[in-house]
Amino acid sequence: MVKLEDIQRLCLTRGIIYPTAEIYGGLSGTFDYGPVGVLIKRKFIEYWRDFFVKSMDCIVEVDGATILPEKVLIASGHVESFVDPITQCEKCKSIYRADNFIEERTGKFVEGKSTKELTEIIVQEKLSCPNCKGKLSEVKMFNLMFKTFAGPTGEQIAYLRPESAQNIFTSFERVFRSSRAKLPFGIAQHGHAFRNEISARQFVIRSREFNQIEIEMFFDPENDDFEEFQSIANKEIILVTREAQLKKTDAVRIKIKDAVNKKIIPNKWMGFFLAKEFEFFKSLGIPESALRFRHMLPEETPHYSGGNFDLEIKFDFGWKETVGNAYRTDHDLKNHSKFSGEDLAVSLPDGRKILPHVVEPSFGLERILYAILLYNFVEDKERGWNWLRLPPKIAPYIAGVYPLVNKDGINEKAKEIFKTLKKNFDVLFDDAGSIGKRYARADEIGIPFGITIDYQTLEDDTVTIRDRDSTKQERIKISEIESFIKNKLIL
Ligand code: ATP
Ligand code: GLY
Repeated sequence: MVKLEDIQRLCLTRGIIYPTAEIYGGLSGTFDYGPVGVLIKRKFIEYWRDFFVKSMDCIVEVDGATILPEKVLIASGHVESFVDPITQCEKCKSIYRADNFIEERTGKFVEGKSTKELTEIIVQEKLSCPNCKGKLSEVKMFNLMFKTFAGPTGEQIAYLRPESAQNIFTSFERVFRSSRAKLPFGIAQHGHAFRNEISARQFVIRSREFNQIEIEMFFDPENDDFEEFQSIANKEIILVTREAQLKKTDAVRIKIKDAVNKKIIPNKWMGFFLAKEFEFFKSLGIPESALRFRHMLPEETPHYSGGNFDLEIKFDFGWKETVGNAYRTDHDLKNHSKFSGEDLAVSLPDGRKILPHVVEPSFGLERILYAILLYNFVEDKERGWNWLRLPPKIAPYIAGVYPLVNKDGINEKAKEIFKTLKKNFDVLFDDAGSIGKRYARADEIGIPFGITIDYQTLEDDTVTIRDRDSTKQERIKISEIESFIKNKLIL
């Protein structure tokens, strides 16, 4: 299988993603998107919007600030509980995340254990610092939020948001009223989130600044029915049930409606998003065999949650959560009502006044982009170079435009075609080196089509279009290029 190093090399050499402030040695867990990466990222978000937001009438979008006053994060519980356990080597001072460290070394599952219990396990198992064999300290809790201060006096404590979701809850009332909404009602947002991870690692998989794409779907818990549920009710997903985890048996294929009826999935909205996510990831080239939902065990689930389901993807290093789906009930609105003193309840047509419940699919963009690169990376000995099979909709450029030679007016004609296409599409102009080299460079970053302008173009206004996947070429009229491209952009 393709490995992290292959993806990392591609990202660095082709301007996709690279470390922030590289010339100063970087800051671990932070990354910049380069010219190619930014286009893939933008297109991915657009595709996600098409799939999850624009396809629904009841979802609106917001774009909140990334810096939040302390009160918000006290109300949400992050100041108190957004913590990870750490242990430090008393000799070389290396720091480890205690739960992960113990799990990796002993195979024991220790999620949800207290600092005291974790310290005891370290002693019992005689675990020492892998660096220098030094003694490990007592386990302590470390808050993952980046703390800061607003204004020159330093009196106003603020935090960089650890999840994008909180802005949605704090502005819920304004958005609900200004949208003249009724339930069910969704608010979507994509933007940066910040976590001072103890050990940022595995390239972008565990970053300190990353992008989240989230929906908070608010609904009446006494009536979770909605029209669109029928369109996915018979769809199947692969689910690792709680029972399967306890008995160490395989994941099951299950119809959404069956899982909802059996109350494995707590409501129709959760079922809806799980089904949509399964389809979404398959359409991005990630095979079913690398996708599964895991019903999180009670000890991994927050006390207020009505059930969490992680979408896990099989990466080269193993399965990893990539989308967190949480039934957050009315926990957030209830706490923000209590701490702010504002009544965030909504009135229903039947006269009841309720705090809506919420189901939240939370996508981590960097993990998804990594998975897309991993599963669309083609090692091709025959072709002589590796290439990306990106779906056209999320390819950085839809086509490259190439003059076959640099003389006799061919370059000028190619530029003219390029300029016209550029008005409506992301296209790349490349006249450097042999045509073979240009195809190779384009394939490497997943450009689906290559438009070559040659001597025949000057005679009959036709060009060749090369298909990245088959490498086959066809001749079409210049006037047909735009409709050709548009057809390919429909997924
Ligand atoms: P993990 O257990 O891997 O730390 P998490 O349970 O803390 O993840 P959530 O809080 O559910 O993750 O966040 C929702 C999504 O945000 C995750 O599924 C993941 O894709 C993304 N995410 C969370 N933390 C990071 C991070 N440090 N770097 C990159 N993406 C992240
Ligand atoms: N908003 C979900 C999370 O970041 O945990």
